[in-house]
Amino acid sequence: MKRLANAKPDDSPHSMNPNKALWEKGDFTRIAATMRESGEAVVHRFGITKGLKVLDLGCGDGTTAVPAAKLGAEVLGVDIAHNLVEAGNQRVAELGLTNCRFQEGDATNLEGLPSQSFDLVVSVFGAMFAPKPADVAKEMVRVTKPGGRIIMGNWIPNDPTLVAQILKISSSYTPPPPEGSISPMTWGIESNVIERFGAAGIPAERISFARETFTFDFPGSPAGLVDEFRKYYGPTMNAFEAAGKAGKATDLQKELEDLFQKENRSSNPNTTSIPATFLQVTVNV
Ligand SMILES: C[S@@+](CC[C@H](N)C(=O)[O-])C[C@H]1O[C@@H](n2cnc3c(N)ncnc32)[C@H](O)[C@@H]1O
Repeated sequence: MKRLANAKPDDSPHSMNPNKALWEKGDFTRIAATMRESGEAVVHRFGITKGLKVLDLGCGDGTTAVPAAKLGAEVLGVDIAHNLVEAGNQRVAELGLTNCRFQEGDATNLEGLPSQSFDLVVSVFGAMFAPKPADVAKEMVRVTKPGGRIIMGNWIPNDPTLVAQILKISSSYTPPPPEGSISPMTWGIESNVIERFGAAGIPAERISFARETFTFDFPGSPAGLVDEFRKYYGPTMNAFEAAGKAGKATDLQKELEDLFQKENRSSNPNTTSIPATFLQVTVNV
């Protein structure tokens, strides 16, 4: 498998890079399985045409990369998690898609990728989770062709819908992050986005924002979906570990079950369907 130049060959699932370790800890493919329909719907709004060169940053196992490739784009998916890159490459092999491949890389430093090489850089709930957001904005701008676009999907801090609330509840049970670290949720604040892309040379008038909805669909109860997050979603796994040490795992479980119940819109007791609001950012480079 190809790696970006900055991905060290000794990077392993036990890496000391906490950002990488967090996403390799669980198995995000289990959560991504609930995201397929919305992933496809989002990509259909991106105006993808045959042959468009697309980079999907923080692509996971291809929730957005795969539908982009199905629309005929030439897609490179880059993700920091080794297991998700493998899962993505397996998915495209099974689907017989030859215009999509996945490789390891870090959104804060894409030095293996040439400047001005993509028509569209997509990052739906991906690059927002990388540290050093200013570096991430610079790298996204650097690899985009002049006249190309960057489209990000970012969760919004304090939004009342699912993911912002999962992350808020999870962080209330987890030890505070190291001093100086910047919350991923700050990517959901328009003024921060403008500042970060501004520092990367993009004036505010070339950045637009929209509130959009992404729905999680699960073939089971809301409590069953909480279990998936508890077992497979790195940030929730960490929260349960910390809550367990403090004797508070039951409280966390209850808070999450209440949230998932409240947000569930399915009238079928055997399925769960939860919409979540996100900030869609479009940057014209
Ligand atoms: C919430 S998941 C979303 C995955 C995918 N975009 C999707 O919608 O299914 C966040 C993804 O960002 C990736 N990620 C986190 N930090 C990263 C970084 N510094 N560089 C590249 N990818 C990163 C994680 O490995 C994970 O796959």
